[in-house]
Amino acid sequence: MWRSGRRLLGLPVSLPPGFSANRWREGILSLCNGCSSDSRVKVGDALSGGPGEEDVRVQGWVRSVRAQKEVTFLHINDGSSLQSLQIVASPSLDISNITFGSAVEIWGKLVQSPHKKQNTELLADKIRLVGSCNPVNFPFKIKERHSLEYIRQFPHLRCKTNVFSSLLRIRSEASAAIHSFFKNNGFVHIHTPIITSNDCEGAGELFQVEPASKTAAKHDNAHFFDVPSFLTVSGQLHLEVMTGAFTRVYTFGPTFRAENSQTRRHLAEFYMVEAELAFSESLKDIMEVMENLFKTATSHILSTSPDDVELFHKYVAPGHKGRLEQMLKNTFQVLSYTEAIDVLQRSMETFKFEPKWGCDLQTEHEKYLVKHCGNIPVFVINYPYDIKPFYARDNQDGPQHTVAAVDLLVPGIGELYGGSLREERLDLLQSRLKQHGLKDTYQWYEELRQFGSVPHGGFGLGFERYLQCILGVENIKDVVPFPRFSHSCFL
Ligand code: 4AD
Ligand code: MG
Repeated sequence: MWRSGRRLLGLPVSLPPGFSANRWREGILSLCNGCSSDSRVKVGDALSGGPGEEDVRVQGWVRSVRAQKEVTFLHINDGSSLQSLQIVASPSLDISNITFGSAVEIWGKLVQSPHKKQNTELLADKIRLVGSCNPVNFPFKIKERHSLEYIRQFPHLRCKTNVFSSLLRIRSEASAAIHSFFKNNGFVHIHTPIITSNDCEGAGELFQVEPASKTAAKHDNAHFFDVPSFLTVSGQLHLEVMTGAFTRVYTFGPTFRAENSQTRRHLAEFYMVEAELAFSESLKDIMEVMENLFKTATSHILSTSPDDVELFHKYVAPGHKGRLEQMLKNTFQVLSYTEAIDVLQRSMETFKFEPKWGCDLQTEHEKYLVKHCGNIPVFVINYPYDIKPFYARDNQDGPQHTVAAVDLLVPGIGELYGGSLREERLDLLQSRLKQHGLKDTYQWYEELRQFGSVPHGGFGLGFERYLQCILGVENIKDVVPFPRFSHSCFL
C-alpha cells in the first residue's frame, strides 16, 4: 500500500540502500503535516498493497454483511476501487446496527486472505458505526443488480452503486487521458468562457444569462452585460482567437444547448473537448488528430481502469469489448457526404427520413453508414455549403457546393465529433457573414483574418457520447453525474 504513496509523492520506486520500508514510511507520514498518527488507508491501496504489520484504519460504506456463527464478514467500499475490502469481525465486536449502506470506520490489521478472489483482508479490532442506513428505505438492495434505468431515478444516491461508481472513476480517468493526450502533443489548454455573447453554431439553441434579481441589473430592462449574453454552445471561436498565437490549443469544459430533444444522445449540459490547429491546410490534418485522440485516450483508459471497464463490457453491454477492439485496431474509414447520400439512396433500408443531397444526415442514416463501413468509425467529409455554419471553409466546388467540414460517426451512437477547416479568406468570410446577417456581430472575427491570419481548423468531441461509445452505454443520462435535459434539472 505504501508503494502507491511513493508514486503520489513522485519519489523513486526503488528505495535507497540502507533505507528500510518502515523508516521510509515514517518519513512520508511525517511529511504529511504532522499526521504521523494517521493510519488511514484507502480500500484500493489496502487491496493492492498486501498484508502488513501495522495497525490500520479503513473508512467507507458497507456493501455487504454476511453473519456466520463464528465470524461476520463485511465488505467495505470507499470509492477507490471497484473491489471492496473484506472485513473479518469476531462475535465480540458489536455490529448489530451495521447494515448495507451504512458508513463505518474500522481498525485492525491487514492479513493474507485465504480466499482466492482477494489477496488481503482486514482482521477487525474495533468497528464504529459512523452513519446508519435504513435498509428498508434505501432504494438499493443488497445482492440485487439494479438496472441503469432504475438507478437513474436516484441521482443523489446512485454513486453508491457499483456500476455508477465505476462509471465515475472511468469518467475521471478519461478526462485525465484527454488532458495528457493534448499535453503530450504540444497543445496549450485554454479556459474558454462559459458566458458569451455569440452563438457559434448559429442554431439558436441558446440559454440566455441574466441576473435572477432585477436589482442586480443597473437599469430596469437593461442587460447585465449591456448586450444579450448566453451560456456557451461551443468554445470554438475563442479557440480560433488563441490559435493565432499558440498554434495548437484545446479546451474541455461544460457546454450548453437548449435543445428540446429528449433523445438517448442529447443533454442540455454536456462536456465538449475542442481543439484548434493553426497552419492546417487540409481536413486530413484535423482528422488525424481526431483519430489519434480517440485511440490514445481509449487505450489509456483500458489499461488504467480494467476492472471498471470490464464491469460494463461484461454486464451492461455484453459483446462491446470486441466491437471496441475493432474500432481501435482498424483505420477509420472516410466517405464524402455525396458518397454517403449515394450509399443511403441505394440501400434497401426503409428510412423514416428520405436521404436527400442538401439535407442533414439523421441518426438513422448515420447508424446505417457505420454499419455499411463494417462497424468501424467513419469520417464523413465535405458537407453541403448551405447546411453548415458560417465559419466552415468554402470548397468552391460545384455544381454541388460544399464546405470542408467533417463529422466522425461511430457504432451505436452516430455523430461523435464535428469539425471543419475555418474560412480564413477575408472576402469569402465577409460575404458569408453578410448572407447570415452577422456582419456587425463578428467584426472582431473578421479582424482575426487581417492580422497574421493562417489556414486553420479544429473539432469538437462530445465527452458523454465518447463514454457511451467506449462503454456501450445506450442512454447518455447514464454517463453524466447529474443529467440536465428538458423538463429535468433535479438537484
Ligand atoms: O457538432 P457540434 O455542434 O460542433 C461544434 O460545436 C463545433 N463548434 C466544434 C468545433 O469544431 N470546435 O458539436 C460537437 C460534438 C458533437 O459531435 C456531439 O458529440 C456533441 O458535441 N454534442 C452533444 N452531446 C450531448 N448533447 C448534446 N446536446 C450535444 N450537441 C453536440
Ligand atoms: Mg455536429
